[in-house]
Amino acid sequence: MNIKASAPGKLLLFGEHAVVYGYPCIVTTVSPRVYVEVEKNSGPLKIEAPQVKDTIFVEEAIKHFCEKYKVDNKILIKTFSNFSSKFGLGSSSAVTVATIKALSKFYGIETSKKEIFDLGYKVIRTIQKVGSGFDIASAIYGKTIYYVSGGQIIETLSVKDLSLVIGYSGIKADTASIVKNLEFRIHNSESEYKKIFSKIGKIVEEAKISLVNSDWKKTGELMNQNHKLLQELGVSTEKLDNMCFSAVSAGAYGAKLSGAGGGDCMIALTPKNKIKNVESAIINAGGEIINAKINV
Ligand code: PMV
Repeated sequence: MNIKASAPGKLLLFGEHAVVYGYPCIVTTVSPRVYVEVEKNSGPLKIEAPQVKDTIFVEEAIKHFCEKYKVDNKILIKTFSNFSSKFGLGSSSAVTVATIKALSKFYGIETSKKEIFDLGYKVIRTIQKVGSGFDIASAIYGKTIYYVSGGQIIETLSVKDLSLVIGYSGIKADTASIVKNLEFRIHNSESEYKKIFSKIGKIVEEAKISLVNSDWKKTGELMNQNHKLLQELGVSTEKLDNMCFSAVSAGAYGAKLSGAGGGDCMIALTPKNKIKNVESAIINAGGEIINAKINV
């Protein structure tokens, strides 16, 4: 018997970093997915994951699942992905969720979304030590969600026709070390950072409304403001700043880095008739365009 499951990648629209400190964020899914197959193996656990350099997320997901549901791990697991892990689109969280879903099906154990979340979040925390779990929630719930750390709130937002251009900066960011570095800096001037987080929190609340109302002008302005605050947090880079600035100059409603910063991707909310211009501007600023459907 050969069982399959999959989970999508993600992009943070608003609220990165502040979400680690108790504020909400808004995250959407992208069309590229990670696929996991499970079959019985006569010998011990075997993992075939030709596209990834380490299989730690798959291993931890299997370990936590087998411990929780008291099943053996005499299985062969294969993973496939139609996007590169270098983009920072959430391949680790997607492979974690897809593994848990595949194991649930394989062992005939019914698991609720909340149970998959709790297990997936544990896996991420065990490996990275930090993180709000927004990426795990996104891979499970899909579409666009409003999220508060630890899954305290997971609310699906009815967002239509989100027109985003995604630009990859060419630099792979190490999320866990950026989060830890910020935590270290916060110790020295807590009140200053708290003010920034609180401003980001307000932007997320406004964006929750503007996104649902398809008020793209307002949403774009909020993206620009959010990016400025991320600059103040010291997590943006010159390359990301240039890509965002170029996108807005070429007609995007607004643009910001997406995720931890330090590299990975930026996003530009763009009127349909300006997409080609914005894509060219991002390429001229040294970025690479990632073609993916959003909010799937
Ligand atoms: O780098 P990404 O796309 O995994 O996003 C990280 C977002 C943070 O808020 C910085 C961390 C987190 O776990 O919420």
